[in-house]
Amino acid sequence: GQRTPNLYFYQGFWCQPKEIQAIMSVQRNFIAQDSDIILATIPKSGTTWLKAISYAIVNRYNFPVQNDHPLLSSNPHELVPFLEYKLYADNNIPDFSTFPSPRLVATHVPFSALPESVKRSGCRVVYLARNPFDTFVSIWHYLGKLRPESLGPLPLEEAFDAYCRGVIGYGPYWDHLLGYWNESLEKTGKVLFLRYEEMKQDANAQLKRLAEFLGFPFSIEEEKGGLVENISNLCSFQTLKDLVVNKHGKGAIFADSENKDLFRKGKVGDWINYLTPVMAERLTNIMNEKLSGSNLSFSVL
Ligand code: PPS
Repeated sequence: GQRTPNLYFYQGFWCQPKEIQAIMSVQRNFIAQDSDIILATIPKSGTTWLKAISYAIVNRYNFPVQNDHPLLSSNPHELVPFLEYKLYADNNIPDFSTFPSPRLVATHVPFSALPESVKRSGCRVVYLARNPFDTFVSIWHYLGKLRPESLGPLPLEEAFDAYCRGVIGYGPYWDHLLGYWNESLEKTGKVLFLRYEEMKQDANAQLKRLAEFLGFPFSIEEEKGGLVENISNLCSFQTLKDLVVNKHGKGAIFADSENKDLFRKGKVGDWINYLTPVMAERLTNIMNEKLSGSNLSFSVL
């Protein structure tokens, strides 16, 4: 079947009917433990990258960074599954007894719609934010790939207009962002709030922040031995993109999705090649309005 986006507004965000089923099951059945780690993103903001880095950090004693590392033969989405896809999709109730501790899972669900146990337990939540311009361009490419060829390419203007009206999977974008930002450490909440652009600029610094928050800080010996750089390199766009599993593998997220579609450019600012100045101004104005008073900003224009 073709996953042409068929979106419904459910509990304050847009998603597909199949996702609603799974999200309801997550809300009813997932019980967070204090040791759990939950990686949260809106689609196309660097989820694959965050999964790889977190997996490598947390499992570095079981799986030292060397040439038989699981990330070199498995896609990050296989190692760190989404709650609302493989785990709880199609009326499935996952068996977590086989999961190593800490349990590492991911979600696109907005903070407000997470199961109560996530909010009440001591589990750790990491949010990765990416500027809405690049996030839009990335999702537009991705949605275009899921579209039947007979329909032709997804018109950019149409997709952008919907995005600006908030109509995008798990969006509105700004509500998703603010929902997690309002629970961030900066706001005395529980969420480590990371930014894609900062990770691109200084991956090592953000890796150290992440490792500390996850309860797996790097020792001085590890840092001196270059482990932080080694994990950055293992998880870099180029390393992951070039792996056989990511060039030719399928089904890491959905049965019929191609792993290669998760690695397009991996750059900051590629939106400039797609959005006109008028489009960029429209989204800038929306973001300024939505983020006013939040202490959060994106410097793009
Ligand atoms: S998904 O489907 O929501 O899980 O996709 P997600 O991984 O969030 O987003 C895909 C974009 O992230 C880029 N990407 C990376 N950037 C930097 N480093 C690494 N390792 C990496 N892996 C994936 C990917 O290229 C998509 O962005 P664009 O701008 O389309 O290239």
